[in-house]
Amino acid sequence: MCGIVGYIGKEKSLPFLINGLKALEYRGYDSAGIAIFSHDKVQVKRKAGQVKVLENALKNDTDLIGHLGIGHTRWATHGMPNETNAHPHNDCMGRIFVVHNGIIENYKELKEYLQHRGHIFHSDTDTEVVPHLIEDFLRSNGDFNVALFDALKMIRGAYAFAIIDVKNPDTLYAVSFSSPLVIGVGADENFLASDPSALVGKSKNVIYIKDGEIAEITRSKIDIINLEQKKTPPEIVRLEWNLEQAQKGNYPHFMLKEIFEGPKIVFSALQGRLKSGKNLVKLGGLEQVNEKLKEAKRLIILACGTSYHAGLVGEYLFEEIAKLPTEVHFASEFRYREEPFEEGTVVIAISQSGETADTLAAIRKTKKHGLLTLGIVNTVGSTIARETDAGVYNHAGPEIGVASTKAFISQLTMLVLMAVYMSESNGHQLHHALLQELEKIPEKIKAILDKASEIEMLSEKYKDCENFLFLGRRYNYPVAFEGALKLKEISYIHAEGYGAGEMKHGPIAMISEKFPTMAIVPQNSVSEKMFSNLEEIKARKGPIFAIATEGDKEIVSLANDIFFVPKTIESLEPLLTIVPLQLFAYYVGTKRGFDVDKPRNLAKSVTVE
Ligand code: G6P
Repeated sequence: MCGIVGYIGKEKSLPFLINGLKALEYRGYDSAGIAIFSHDKVQVKRKAGQVKVLENALKNDTDLIGHLGIGHTRWATHGMPNETNAHPHNDCMGRIFVVHNGIIENYKELKEYLQHRGHIFHSDTDTEVVPHLIEDFLRSNGDFNVALFDALKMIRGAYAFAIIDVKNPDTLYAVSFSSPLVIGVGADENFLASDPSALVGKSKNVIYIKDGEIAEITRSKIDIINLEQKKTPPEIVRLEWNLEQAQKGNYPHFMLKEIFEGPKIVFSALQGRLKSGKNLVKLGGLEQVNEKLKEAKRLIILACGTSYHAGLVGEYLFEEIAKLPTEVHFASEFRYREEPFEEGTVVIAISQSGETADTLAAIRKTKKHGLLTLGIVNTVGSTIARETDAGVYNHAGPEIGVASTKAFISQLTMLVLMAVYMSESNGHQLHHALLQELEKIPEKIKAILDKASEIEMLSEKYKDCENFLFLGRRYNYPVAFEGALKLKEISYIHAEGYGAGEMKHGPIAMISEKFPTMAIVPQNSVSEKMFSNLEEIKARKGPIFAIATEGDKEIVSLANDIFFVPKTIESLEPLLTIVPLQLFAYYVGTKRGFDVDKPRNLAKSVTVE
């Protein structure tokens, strides 16, 4: 939540700051601001609204030519989303300028303390205490670094800061504590951002600032200072994301582009890992913990949002394929559980960003109990990737649309691979059909995407509905949740996902001519039961939109509208059935006139609890 950028180097800082903020806008977009050191002083510009409002306001500004700058795009936590509360914030003397991501939990007491000591505040934010606190320490000790360390000791919460000190115009300061910041290493220039998507095309070598570390960044040098105030060697991670992946290309929205990347995403998740000729899955990232994995008796999957829904599919996969009892928890609730952990329990965290605060807190809890933790993470070098004992990367490239689409598909693919990898029969004939079929999934997704216009047409018919029920069973039960989540995130239509068997225990009361049901009903082991549920809906005049298997004749008499997907093995169905639901959410959202890449109130990377 909130995006931070920073620049110091040979170029003027403004272009990177604006482009970087645009790349990070999915983290928050209610106001934006920059501070640039120009003409021996720091100039601040802030605007309510999206980054383009700020960009337009700066178009004719010839003053902002400095080579050191910081910027921020905000997702409001403390104080209304207006210009006064937009970052950067500064101290009384106009010496220290700060942008902040995260929450300062004890800001009220710090603010009272500082006001008592004569500091004047202008905003309602928690952030504004930071420059004043540093200023306060500078009054008793003139050294900026000492004052910064002293201030950090008093701050509680999760935070990432980028700071400019007017008296040190050759240095960009960055601090991270439970909120990510990454440095892009350049030649005679260095970049700073909340996540690597802002650095694509600028630098492939990045350094993640670890918890409690301070980075002092000049145009030619990066010093990392740890909690003990000692210099520590920076760890450089190679970023393989490219510019094309981070741009919309010919697509009107990132969301559509990312849905259409589906075939490629599955293919790249399988590459080098699936040896279908040998019925074998090889996951290099897990090899180091193979011995412990052999002892695994039970799995706990922890995740949030869309990743949680992928985890729910994982539960069925691990139980059916790896024969391991599996449970899935919302990471945000897991932290309150007093569950006794048995030996042999393995934890899997699923996270696109690798930075979700609740998921991170949940795995830290399990680590304290000595459990083996694995990650399925898309963002290379992110905190969850670093803190889990071992893991696999999705290799899906940057996901920019706030509503997760391609990451879900790649998570499902990774879960199938992991389930086979963890089964005792990896490498045996038993998995032959499954792995052969997995290789065909990219072309089957492509066949669905080729018919996207059918979904577009049907979305016209349903776009004005106020409610939607999504139903599925077994492997498609989590797909019903995810389909409903996509529709509400993007189109603001009230949508509920339910296991079809549970419908008669409540949701059926809502069914009427005006309350449509999206039924995920491919031909499989549970389709007969799904058909019975659909009869119950039909008897109550509820409109039915079905996602069914090509060639299914029975569905024709039941459903008002049908979208056919190719036949596949039941455990792989979610990889296909989710695609029309993602497209449906996209088309309904755009037809209702919403900005689907930046849905209201949401943020892509949720780094607060
Ligand atoms: C936010 C995003 C969702 C995402 C969830 C978990 O709510 O808007 O799209 O599924 O966070 O994020 P993660 O990065 O951990 O997968």
